[in-house]
Amino acid sequence: MSKPRLRLRLRLLSLVSILYYVFLIITTTTDLVAALRCRPDQTETLKRFKNEFAFSSICSDDTNFFRGVTCDNVTGAITVLTLPGGCIRGTLRSNSSLFELSHLRYLNLSFNNFASSPFSSAFGQLNNLEVLLLSSNGFIGQVPSSIRNLTKLTQLKLSYNKLTGDLSPVVQNLTNLSAVDLSYNQFSGTIPSSLLTMPFLSYLDLSENHFTGSFEILDSSSKLEILLLGNNHFEVEIIDQILKLANLRYLSLSYLNTSYPIDLTLFSSLKSLSYLNLYGNSLTPTSVNSDIDFPNNMQTLLLSGCNISEFPIFLKSLKTLEYLDLSNNIIKGNVPDWLWSLPLLVSLNLRNNSFTGFEGSLDHVLADSLVQVLDMALNSFKGSLPNPPVSIINLSAWNNSFTGNIPLSVCNRTFLDVLDLSYNNFTGSIPPCLSNFTIVNLRKNKLEGNIPDEFYNGASTQTLDVGYNQLTGKLPRSLLNCSLLKFLSIDQNRIDDSFPFWLKALPNLKVLTLRSNRFNGPISPPHDQGPLAFPKLQILEISHNRFTGSLPINYFANWSATSLKINDEERLYMGDFTNDRFTYDDTLDLQYKGLYMEQGKIFTFYSAIDFSGNKLEGEIPESIGLLTTLIALNLSNNSFTGHIPMSFANVTELESLDLSGNKLSGEIPQELGRLSYLAYIDVSDNQLTGEIPQGTQIMGQPKSSFEGNPGLCGLPLQQSCLSEDAPSAQEPEEEEAILKWRAVLIGYGPGVLFGLVIGHVVALYKPDWFIKNYGQNRLRGIRQTN
Ligand SMILES: *[C@@H]1O[C@H](CO)[C@@H](O)[C@H](O)[C@H]1NC(C)=O
Ligand SMILES: *[C@@H]1O[C@H](CO)[C@@H](O)[C@H](O)[C@H]1NC(C)=O
Ligand SMILES: *[C@@H]1O[C@H](CO)[C@@H](O)[C@H](O)[C@H]1NC(C)=O
Ligand SMILES: *[C@@H]1O[C@H](CO)[C@@H](O)[C@H](O)[C@H]1NC(C)=O
Ligand SMILES: *[C@@H]1O[C@H](CO)[C@@H](O)[C@H](O)[C@H]1NC(C)=O
Ligand SMILES: *[C@@H]1O[C@H](CO)[C@@H](O)[C@H](O)[C@H]1NC(C)=O
Ligand SMILES: *[C@@H]1O[C@H](CO)[C@@H](O)[C@H](O)[C@H]1NC(C)=O
Ligand SMILES: *[C@@H]1O[C@H](CO)[C@@H](O)[C@H](O)[C@H]1NC(C)=O
Ligand SMILES: *[C@@H]1O[C@H](CO)[C@@H](O)[C@H](O)[C@H]1NC(C)=O
Ligand SMILES: *[C@@H]1O[C@H](CO)[C@@H](O)[C@H](O)[C@H]1NC(C)=O
Ligand SMILES: *[C@@H]1O[C@H](CO)[C@@H](O)[C@H](O)[C@H]1NC(C)=O
Ligand SMILES: *[C@@H]1O[C@H](CO)[C@@H](O)[C@H](O)[C@H]1NC(C)=O
Repeated sequence: MSKPRLRLRLRLLSLVSILYYVFLIITTTTDLVAALRCRPDQTETLKRFKNEFAFSSICSDDTNFFRGVTCDNVTGAITVLTLPGGCIRGTLRSNSSLFELSHLRYLNLSFNNFASSPFSSAFGQLNNLEVLLLSSNGFIGQVPSSIRNLTKLTQLKLSYNKLTGDLSPVVQNLTNLSAVDLSYNQFSGTIPSSLLTMPFLSYLDLSENHFTGSFEILDSSSKLEILLLGNNHFEVEIIDQILKLANLRYLSLSYLNTSYPIDLTLFSSLKSLSYLNLYGNSLTPTSVNSDIDFPNNMQTLLLSGCNISEFPIFLKSLKTLEYLDLSNNIIKGNVPDWLWSLPLLVSLNLRNNSFTGFEGSLDHVLADSLVQVLDMALNSFKGSLPNPPVSIINLSAWNNSFTGNIPLSVCNRTFLDVLDLSYNNFTGSIPPCLSNFTIVNLRKNKLEGNIPDEFYNGASTQTLDVGYNQLTGKLPRSLLNCSLLKFLSIDQNRIDDSFPFWLKALPNLKVLTLRSNRFNGPISPPHDQGPLAFPKLQILEISHNRFTGSLPINYFANWSATSLKINDEERLYMGDFTNDRFTYDDTLDLQYKGLYMEQGKIFTFYSAIDFSGNKLEGEIPESIGLLTTLIALNLSNNSFTGHIPMSFANVTELESLDLSGNKLSGEIPQELGRLSYLAYIDVSDNQLTGEIPQGTQIMGQPKSSFEGNPGLCGLPLQQSCLSEDAPSAQEPEEEEAILKWRAVLIGYGPGVLFGLVIGHVVALYKPDWFIKNYGQNRLRGIRQTN
């Protein structure tokens, strides 16, 4: 592993380990309890417990279920139980056999689905419990006061449930607690002071709840080292009290929702502080501009969305700073040169401010720093891009006004992995070293010349977006060396080439867009090459080129990905690229249901074909019916002839179909009216005849979708098939189209189907246990609504 990466990873590890250590200690002690034989009556009880629930198929076999069971090697009683996540579904009742396992010391039921079960008071019977982990379980209601019985408890983790109520009656007697995570619930009321000052408590996460009011800390002997209180509703002063927790090392107070600005200087009194997160809180301008004497172990300072208008000079003396986030503020002018000489700074986020330039020499000032993750996106930087730091790994500078050439020094940066310079005004040619980067986004610049034919064997490229430039020449054949390539976007250039049949050799290619270039010739491979058969292609966009010829009847045979159900490692979006340093999402201009969206994120199950605006002729191949999971098809503005194939009946997921501007004849197949998701259809300007099928999907279409077919009759056209005037159908208005878009977005539940211009690369600071929890929760949400 390369050195800077290793270094960053080690540093992250030290941060995460602070958070982890409590859980790790317990896991280790668990392993020490030898897993010898369990007493038969205990095993029976466990089996009864298992039979109370429905199981997903992955864990219905006993081996998997019993893997997380440990029994005391002397008494044979079950002392440790960890269920595999995602297994159980059903209600956890008070009479459950689980509560007979009274010798349990360690219980982890996290990531199962006790959908809307109340938190049973019977948990109070398990009074040998030392560790109770019930995250992401769908529990609702109040935590019963019987939990007070669990006096041996050292760890309690109930995050990501829907628990409500006041904490005071719950935690009173649990004086041995050392780690408590109640985040992402709906707890309310004030935070009991007794909780904050429990004798052994070192880790407390109460973020994302509805806590209000203040609390008072009388006892200054608190052991609390890690405290997360973000996203609550503290209207009043709590900082004073927090400052009494003298051992705090890690403090997150994001989005406190206080009604007054926060004085940043106060935190300098916490002498052990190494992590401070104040996301989304307004800071008093005078405090930000003063000389704050933070303790000399400050590593992470997160001041995003803090209404900061001038570059904070106190940072100059933070020689131990590693992670700095100043994004989403209103800082203008130049980035000061001293910033780059902070000796340990590895991650810097300046996104979404109003920076215009850099102090100091462009050749050296950044280049000499040790920054590895640099996000300068969404600013107003002008002029040339400075030579990036020698240790750079992720460089994001999209949406600025950089001009001139892309500095060749990027090719000299051994560790550079993600390069996003999209939405600038770079000119000149593309540097010849793209194959060393995992992600390259140079979209919407003014780059000229060829795409360098320099992809060497074993290239790491997964995403290449050079759309909206002025590139000429042919597609480089050396792209075949990029066996990891998933996303290739060449749209809106001047590439003059034949259809790249050879790309079907790329085993991972999912998205290919060649829209608006000068590609020409047939899109049907020569006979001796067999069918096209892209192994994983889900989106193929070749519209507005000069393709010609007809498509054989079996053209779409063997396009496995578009015809199979897709299960992309349970990811929501195609091209989601997340690691412990940053996240990147592939985005695509989307034409769908007659509407256009710039740079949207793409759901993993989206699959689309767009051949519009070419000179294709002949019949639409019957094999289109094999693409059963196709969602959008656009064959408009070609010269297709013949009938609309009946096989469309089998494309049951189809939502958007545009066949307009061809020479199609005959009747519209009745089957189209039965496609239940088909929300948009346009067959205008053809030579279709007969009656428009009267399915509910078709009735809702505007008249314009059928116009320009002299022989067509029936609603929504005014032309009645009974040769007598029917009442005129109502035509949807412009706004309705936009409303439909919204409906589509909402229709897909949490998250949006395609987001607006997306934050391509985002530097991350969240410790990875947080991301994992959050990620799983997000996916659960989707699965449950589906
Ligand atoms: C039980 O396990 C403990 C811890 O591993 C071990 O020290 C002890 O010797 C074991 N006792 C027996 C009877 O195996
Ligand atoms: C608890 O169980 C879940 C689901 O099996 C697992 O993902 C998680 O790592 C476990 N937690 C600990 C601390 O062992
Ligand atoms: C538990 O109680 C429910 C009703 O609350 C009942 O249907 C079920 O049979 C009981 N289960 C056992 C094991 O007693
Ligand atoms: C608390 O534990 C005791 C045993 O120590 C037990 O008798 C009692 O029923 C438990 N209380 C609750 C509410 O479960
Ligand atoms: C909780 O502690 C109080 C004293 O602080 C004691 O009176 C009470 O019995 C305890 N409750 C339980 C359930 O242990
Ligand atoms: C609390 O922890 C201490 C030290 O770990 C232990 O001696 C004591 O027995 C524990 N108390 C309870 C009620 O388990
Ligand atoms: C605090 O939250 C409430 C309710 O969510 C909201 O109405 C209010 O604007 C927020 N106040 C601040 C200062 O963010
Ligand atoms: C942000 O700062 C400006 C002055 O720099 C101030 O006028 C404004 O009220 C602040 N906004 C908030 C939400 O605190
Ligand atoms: C690029 O330059 C043109 C003028 O040549 C200007 O209109 C446009 O706003 C610039 N774009 C960016 C992103 O700076
Ligand atoms: C790349 O590095 C080599 C040696 O370190 C140096 O000779 C060369 O000039 C550098 N090229 C660029 C474009 O910086
Ligand atoms: C790309 O990486 C390879 C292997 O890591 C290295 O040998 C080569 O010099 C690099 N090329 C450039 C242009 O950085
Ligand atoms: C649809 O698919 C079924 C089974 O694959 C096939 O029998 C049928 O002929 C197809 N229908 C059309 C219209 O292609």
